[in-house]
Amino acid sequence: MSDKNAVSTVEIPNTNLNVADDTFKGKIKGIINEAMSNNPYFAAGGGLMILGTGLAVARSGIVKLSRVLYRQMIVDLEIQSKDKAYSWFLTWMAKHPQRVSRHLSVRTSFIQHDNGSISTRFNLVPGPGNHWIKYKGAYLHIKRERSAKMIDLQNGSPYETVTLTTLYRDRHLFHEMLDEAKELALKTTEGKTVIYTSFGPEWRKFGQPKAKRAYASVILDRGIKENILKDVQQFMQNGKWYSDRGIPYRRGYLLYGPPGSGKTSFIQALAGELDYNICMLNLSEGNLTDDRLNHLMNNMPERSILLLEDIDAAFNQRAQTQDQGYHSSVTFSGLLNALDGITSSEETITFMTTNHPERLDPAIMRPGRIDYKQFVGNASLYQAQQMFLKFYPEKVELAELFVKELADLKLSVSTAQLQGLFVMNKDDAPAALANIGTLKLTNGIDSHI
Ligand SMILES: Nc1ncnc2c1ncn2[C@@H]1O[C@H](COP(=O)(O)OP(=O)(O)OP(=O)(O)O)[C@@H](O)[C@H]1O
Ligand SMILES: [Mg+2]
Repeated sequence: MSDKNAVSTVEIPNTNLNVADDTFKGKIKGIINEAMSNNPYFAAGGGLMILGTGLAVARSGIVKLSRVLYRQMIVDLEIQSKDKAYSWFLTWMAKHPQRVSRHLSVRTSFIQHDNGSISTRFNLVPGPGNHWIKYKGAYLHIKRERSAKMIDLQNGSPYETVTLTTLYRDRHLFHEMLDEAKELALKTTEGKTVIYTSFGPEWRKFGQPKAKRAYASVILDRGIKENILKDVQQFMQNGKWYSDRGIPYRRGYLLYGPPGSGKTSFIQALAGELDYNICMLNLSEGNLTDDRLNHLMNNMPERSILLLEDIDAAFNQRAQTQDQGYHSSVTFSGLLNALDGITSSEETITFMTTNHPERLDPAIMRPGRIDYKQFVGNASLYQAQQMFLKFYPEKVELAELFVKELADLKLSVSTAQLQGLFVMNKDDAPAALANIGTLKLTNGIDSHI
């Protein structure tokens, strides 16, 4: 449009001014031509105007072109701090050898070794600001920004973003890099069980990931472990069955019995066996409300088993006043609503434990809340024998003697108590046998079933 104008006006000096043109357009043109040829100021102004318009057109063209080129050649990727990839990426970048960073932040981590000692490591991660890295031959610009105004309401930390920029042709590197970052993050938890616990309204890792508890190290009475494992595995394979029937894809398990019988240990070992993590909530802890419970149960990290310990705490008002130490603010209906309200499309496996099954309201036994319940009691003679053999491998005859004596003592002891005896007499099977009488002393705390 403006080009056309420019061309037609440029032609003006060559137009024959005296040619009469009777059309309206012709008349106007005549008047303009006359004014321009007769008035030098006007003519000069017109020239400038033409030049100005031309330049403006050219400039906006260049801006547009550069924008198009930028869009064609450059790609951005934004990672927000609430995304899981955010911390993966920072850790990855801290480990990346070819980087230029002048702004660093410290991230301290604790590493627990197998012998229990803890060492501290400082990771220097890229701080807020601009950074460059060279990755697989391409340059990536990284900008980490921290919002001064916005905070993450979930955990109160400042809201942050990292923006990565590279050439369009290298855009596939984003994928490769994120995959690498994820691999790196997962490697640190490989062979480990991450335990999450509630921190306000969100799940936080509780300590460092622990080495998986060996499945075989938990000794329950015959068949219990196998049956539960089979049931969970079957449930996990049946997603389609549930979705075809519109049934929420969840299953609840209750393990009940006296303290120290291996309920919690079994659930940890099971999580390790299935390669799942654990989200653990203790309902007898006072800081949990119904709303919070509901929120937490609907926002679990993926591949986790939900473990609700001491669920009886949510049940009986009278028990709360009688048993000191119970200040739970999760109510019975709150627990039921939370169990019913899990809307995750992924499978939800909930394990619940209690030492007081008699305090539970039958309403919790409905399918979808508790589908499978199992008593886990004090040590049976079979368990005592297996425990003995676990601590003193190959001492088969002594194990027989031990079991016989235990039967003669007519004691109901927990597996935790047996473990206590064996730990006291480490690597000394005859001493464990000789000291079997000490079990009487530790008994009494949990002789009820
Ligand atoms: N059946 C078992 N097999 C192996 N170890 C066991 C067993 N039962 C208890 N222990 C050991 O005893 C300790 C306590 O066990 P755990 O915490 O699993 O008991 P619990 O049944 O969850 O008790 P509570 O009801 O008090 O929560 C752990 O160190 C665990 O290793
Ligand atoms: Mg327990």
